[in-house]
Amino acid sequence: MRRIMKIGVFDSGYGGLTILEAIRKELPQYDYLYLGDNARAPYGTHSFDVIYRYTLQAVKYLFSQDCALVILACNTASAKALRTIQQKDLPEINYQLQITNYKSSKRNVLGVIRPTVEAVPSITKTGHVGILATPATVSSESYVLELEKIAPDLTISQQACPLWVPLIEAGEHHTPGAKYFVGEYLRQILAKDPKIDTLVFGCTHYPLLKEVIDGWLAYHYQIEESEFPKPQKATHITTIAQGELVADSLKNYLSRHPEYREQLSQGGSCHYLTTENADRFSQSASLFLSSPVQAEHIDLE
Ligand code: DGL
Repeated sequence: MRRIMKIGVFDSGYGGLTILEAIRKELPQYDYLYLGDNARAPYGTHSFDVIYRYTLQAVKYLFSQDCALVILACNTASAKALRTIQQKDLPEINYQLQITNYKSSKRNVLGVIRPTVEAVPSITKTGHVGILATPATVSSESYVLELEKIAPDLTISQQACPLWVPLIEAGEHHTPGAKYFVGEYLRQILAKDPKIDTLVFGCTHYPLLKEVIDGWLAYHYQIEESEFPKPQKATHITTIAQGELVADSLKNYLSRHPEYREQLSQGGSCHYLTTENADRFSQSASLFLSSPVQAEHIDLE
């Protein structure tokens, strides 16, 4: 079989770059195509219908660009669109590929929630876990349902953080305004359950706020503990980002699925596509990545 296929990585905007970086570190040999639907971000405040329609357009586009596998590096898309795409659209897409080109390989779409959830039980000591995510991911209850399946004894609280993605997409995530809104949502989730010792970033954009979040948590505990010692509170909170977890999971998937692995080309390249202005994407993305990038504009429909 000729190795001509790539791995597609999709997000509503810049957040998926945190996943792409980790995947490329773990699996540098493959060729990647990143697509950010920045023009229509954020997805997290849209309804199911819209998120599903946008995500399916992106997946079909990446398939048309020779991606054998597409990683939805977006929790909102994973929560709202992955299952429907896997169950309803993929069989039809694969069938069409087969009848139009009998040599054509199969395509698949993978999400980011399951690999994240699997890591949580071994990290928490108190058994109290917080999920920080977009309103759409929170309302889908995907994290709660998946965690209940593998660790029914955990106590899970969720917090929607609708202003974090717009702050990041606007490049405002290190401003005093960002610090204020980071504090607001962290305060709300810790008020729901003060015993939380593990906070999951259930949105791929949030690692870009990690410094601000960890800084707020450290300061908050210092102040609160000295003024009002609360023995029932966790003394340290671990924040979990998804990049390495998703990368490990993809590596494992490829080792179990030679039918995908063996058609992936190995040039170590990565190309970037955006539905926004290409120069604007290139400039902002370069701030998050270890080397500068040059993106290309595309339209999705
Ligand atoms: N990075 C997406 C996620 O993981 C962002 C969502 C958005 O566009 O609101 O959920």
